[in-house]
Amino acid sequence: MDYKQEIERRRTFAIISHPDAGKTTLTEKFLLYGGAIQLAGSVKGKATARHAVSDWMELEKQRGISITSSVMQFEYAGYCINILDTPGHQDFSEDTYRTLMAADSAVMVIDAAKGIEPQTRKLFRICAMRHIPIFTFINKLDREARDPFELMEELENEFGIGTYPVNWPIGCGHDFKGVFDRDRREVLAFQDFHRGQNKIQAIACDLTDTALLDELIGRRMREKLVEDIELLDGASYEFDLDAVRAGTLSPVFFGSALTNFGVEPFLENFLRMTTPPLPRETADAVVDPFAPDFSAFVFKIQANMNRAHRDRVAFLRICSGRFARDAEYLHVQDGKTMKLAQPQQMMAQERAIVNEAFAGDIIGVFDPGVFSIGDTVCAPGMKVRFEGIPTFAPEHFSIISQVDTMKRKQFVKGVTQIAQEGAIQMFHEPNSGMEEVIVGAVGVLQFEVLEYRLKNEYNIDIRRRDLSYSFIRWIERAPCAPDALNLASDTKWVQDFRGKDLLLFNNEWSIRWAEQKNEGLELSEFSRNW
Ligand code: G4P
Repeated sequence: MDYKQEIERRRTFAIISHPDAGKTTLTEKFLLYGGAIQLAGSVKGKATARHAVSDWMELEKQRGISITSSVMQFEYAGYCINILDTPGHQDFSEDTYRTLMAADSAVMVIDAAKGIEPQTRKLFRICAMRHIPIFTFINKLDREARDPFELMEELENEFGIGTYPVNWPIGCGHDFKGVFDRDRREVLAFQDFHRGQNKIQAIACDLTDTALLDELIGRRMREKLVEDIELLDGASYEFDLDAVRAGTLSPVFFGSALTNFGVEPFLENFLRMTTPPLPRETADAVVDPFAPDFSAFVFKIQANMNRAHRDRVAFLRICSGRFARDAEYLHVQDGKTMKLAQPQQMMAQERAIVNEAFAGDIIGVFDPGVFSIGDTVCAPGMKVRFEGIPTFAPEHFSIISQVDTMKRKQFVKGVTQIAQEGAIQMFHEPNSGMEEVIVGAVGVLQFEVLEYRLKNEYNIDIRRRDLSYSFIRWIERAPCAPDALNLASDTKWVQDFRGKDLLLFNNEWSIRWAEQKNEGLELSEFSRNW
């Protein structure tokens, strides 16, 4: 297979849901179909095993949340599929955003009894910002569920996009009888003996075959189904592949991940409707994924996956061409060429060293502490720079310093590395040295993570004092030097670790004051990091 065929068969998607909707179960079933794992329960088992090797993960385990997101690759029907798992906890929405930057589409899992939940809403907004196609899997039909029409309406009203039910449920809970496939116009019947099975063969039956249908789902259900389908065909959106690919129409599937019902049809339709990796924008051009030269960007950095080795892994989304293990590549932000050491992929449960990878793939490489989120790595001749991953304005601020003044170097190194990973943001007062550092976070839990990690990984105790600021704005353009700006007395000028100027505010009033008193001052809520 040449490299273009390899790219053509790549599909890379993120899986998103509110905790407990069934994301892990669905992922596991995908892997089962792909033959990547043999037993249900393996995906969770893997997470537990990983927890055991790292104290840092202990914090995650204690809180019962998934802080880190992982990547898995498997093969199905000739396709090579990369699944990006997203952390569900609200404090880590920024990490989720970055993961979505690396995906070409998203699968949203919804609990049929609950409908849209807060975290689904948040994640959806992020997808919408990027206009990525969203596929909806409404899960747990083997339990009591809400009315499917009501669920459709909720999706459309809340998210402002069209929905197209690809299949339609017949009953739910104990009365769950299966789904109607609208494209094939046939019923896939779910039988009680399917419950608890890993792989099931649904029974297909034409809607006009009244006798067989009555036998499979009962007369009452058949009549209801015929009525529902008439209503759907008359009232719902037409299927439009272009709208799906533009992210304005979400194909919806009903099923039950636990009993494995509706998973395979979902996978098949999903693969049919999605595209291979799409072109990506750079600062001044568009990169064709099928171009032979390798290019990629860092969307995630994970430190100390194995504490004994103090390792740091940078995750790269490959945007074009073929990656070769022994080739030298340019780290654009540093201007240096290097070999990417220990390139690895997550094949279901295994981390394996890879010799080659292609556009659409995600690889993890050893990071000696040089990469930051959003950095570009490419073939030396290419000199591209991908659209940076924006840094969002944190809403909580603290000032920290090390308890033991002799450990200042170690302190600065620790905070800088954790900031490079994007776990927190780091600021300092210009011309003040680094005795004290201001850290900002989107959620306060991140401060605890910072404290924990500095202690455990860098052996540094810190003092932390919360600051009253709630807003931060990057200075996009200023009429004069920052220290000459006319600002309210409680506004503070700081710089981030890239040396960009920012202002810290206590309230929105001070932001308006700054804008009104300084003609030509432009402030921004996020940094583009080009
Ligand atoms: P998450 O990753 O989105 O957080 O959800 P996860 O897959 O862990 O599923 C959450 C719970 O919902 C699990 O039960 C899981 O077995 C159950 N579940 C997932 N899909 C279905 C489904 O289609 N039908 C039914 N009835 N249940 C489903 P748990 O008791 O919390 O965990 P476990 O002990 O089963 O692992």
